[in-house]
Amino acid sequence: MSDVLIKNTRVLEDGRLVPAEILIEDGKIKGISKEFRISAYDEIINAGNMVTIPAGIDGHVHFRDPGLTYKEDWYSGSCSAAAGGITAVLEHPNTIPPVADKNGFSLKLKHAKKKSVIDFGINGGVTNNVDQLKELWRLGVSVFGEIFMAESTGGLNISKETLGSALSAIGQLDALACIHAEDEAIRLENEELLKNDSGIDIHSRVRPNECEEVAVRDCLKINKEASSPARLHFCHTSTPEAVKLIGNAQKEFSALGNAGKISCEVAPHHLFLSTKDYNKLGTLGKMNPPLRSSEDAAYMMQALNSGLINAVASDHAPHMHYEKDVPMRSAPSGVPGVETLMPLMLAAVRKNLISLERVIQVTSRNPAYIFGLDRLGKGSMAEGCDADLLLFDPKSVVPIKSKNLHTQCDWTPYEGMDGIFPGMTLSRGNTIWDGHQIIAKKGCGQFMPGAGMKTDEDGRIILEFDDDEDDE
Ligand code: DOR
Ligand code: ZN
Ligand code: ZN
Repeated sequence: MSDVLIKNTRVLEDGRLVPAEILIEDGKIKGISKEFRISAYDEIINAGNMVTIPAGIDGHVHFRDPGLTYKEDWYSGSCSAAAGGITAVLEHPNTIPPVADKNGFSLKLKHAKKKSVIDFGINGGVTNNVDQLKELWRLGVSVFGEIFMAESTGGLNISKETLGSALSAIGQLDALACIHAEDEAIRLENEELLKNDSGIDIHSRVRPNECEEVAVRDCLKINKEASSPARLHFCHTSTPEAVKLIGNAQKEFSALGNAGKISCEVAPHHLFLSTKDYNKLGTLGKMNPPLRSSEDAAYMMQALNSGLINAVASDHAPHMHYEKDVPMRSAPSGVPGVETLMPLMLAAVRKNLISLERVIQVTSRNPAYIFGLDRLGKGSMAEGCDADLLLFDPKSVVPIKSKNLHTQCDWTPYEGMDGIFPGMTLSRGNTIWDGHQIIAKKGCGQFMPGAGMKTDEDGRIILEFDDDEDDE
C-alpha cells in the first residue's frame, strides 16, 4: 500500500493545537512532525488547517443486519458511522437471528464482511446459551453482551440465575461482559402500577433511576459471588446513582489489584437530551434506559469529565419513523446516533462543556482499551497504530438535520441541535468520507477478531465454518 502525507493540519499536543504533518505508511501512522522533508508520496492530503484527531470507536451499535435490514444494514450503518467520523464499531447481538451460537455469528460476519465500510467487531449474545459462550469466544466475538437484565428490543433478557452462570463462564474465558442494567421486576411492577397513566414521560417513570441503580448493584453482587468473576462494562449508564456505584466498585477492585476491571459508558442521548424533550420528541425520545432529568444529564457530563464515566457510545438503535408513530407504550425503544456522536461531542468542546483532550480519550483511547482493540492498533495516533483519523474544522458548527444523515433511519432526536461534522474520515490511511460523500468501497471494512479467536501455529485465524455458505 501507498504512503500518504497529510499536510496543513493541526493536532493536539499538551492540551494545545499545534501545526503538524502526518505521515502514513501502509495504512499505519509513521510519524507526526511539524514538517516532513521527504519528497515522494503516493498521495498528499491538504487538510486546509483542519484539526486531526483519532477517529471515533463506537462500542455500542445495533445495525439490524441480518434480520431487520429495512431499519439499517451493514452498508447504511457503516456509511453513517464513516460520515460521522467513526471508523470502528462493536455491533450488538439482538439481530434476527441473534448472535447466540455459531450459526448466528457466522451469518452476521458474512453480512458485515460483504457490506461494511468501516472496521467492526461482533459481540456475542447471552441468552440461555451459556454452553455456547466458549465456542463464540473461540470464533472471535469481541466481548459478550449487551447482556439484557430487563426487557428491550429483541427480547433477550435473562434471569439473575442465568446472569450468574453466564458471568462465571465469561470470567473463565477472561472475556468482558457488557451489561444493560435495568431491573426487570421494578419495570414490571411499575408497568402494572402506572397502567392507566398516559403522561408524556411515562416511559421514564416505568423505568426510574432506581431501576438502573438496583440492576447495577445486583450485577456487581452477582459477579462478585460468581465462581470466576468477569470483567464488567456497564452500557449506557444514565443515572448518578449507577455511576457512583460503579465508581465505588472500581475503587474496591483497584484496591484488590484488579484496576480497570469495571468500566462504564454513557450515550449522547443521556448527555444532550432529557425528560424536558419529551414534549418535542414524543415517542422519538423513547429508549432503554429512558431519558432522565436535565439535572441528571448535567451530572453525566460532569462525570464524563471527571473520569467516573470512561467512554461515550451511541447505542445507535434505529427504528423507522412510522414504527414510532404509535402510542408511547407500544412504540419501539431506541434512537439512531452513530453519525451524530462525534459531531455532538465536538460541538460540546466548542461550548466548553468538555475538553478536546477528554473527547479523544472517551471516544477512541478508552474504548480501544476497554474492548481490547488497542492490541489491533486501534484508538491512538501513535507510531505504528492504524491511521484511523477524523479531520474537522472547529468553527464549522451546523444544525444537525436528519435529511443529511446516512442512516436508513428517517429521523434523528437531535434535529436542529449543533454539530461539528468531519470534513474527512480516514480508515487505515484510506479516505472513506471526504466531507461530501462516501468514497469507500462496500466491504472494505475489516473484521476485528476478539482476543479469544482460535489461530493456527503461525497466528493465522481459523474460521470454523464455511465462509461462503449461502443463507439469504
Ligand atoms: O433503546 C434501546 N434500543 N435499548 C436497547 O437496549 C436496545 C435498543 C435496540 O436494539 O433497539
Ligand atoms: Zn441496552
Ligand atoms: Zn444497545
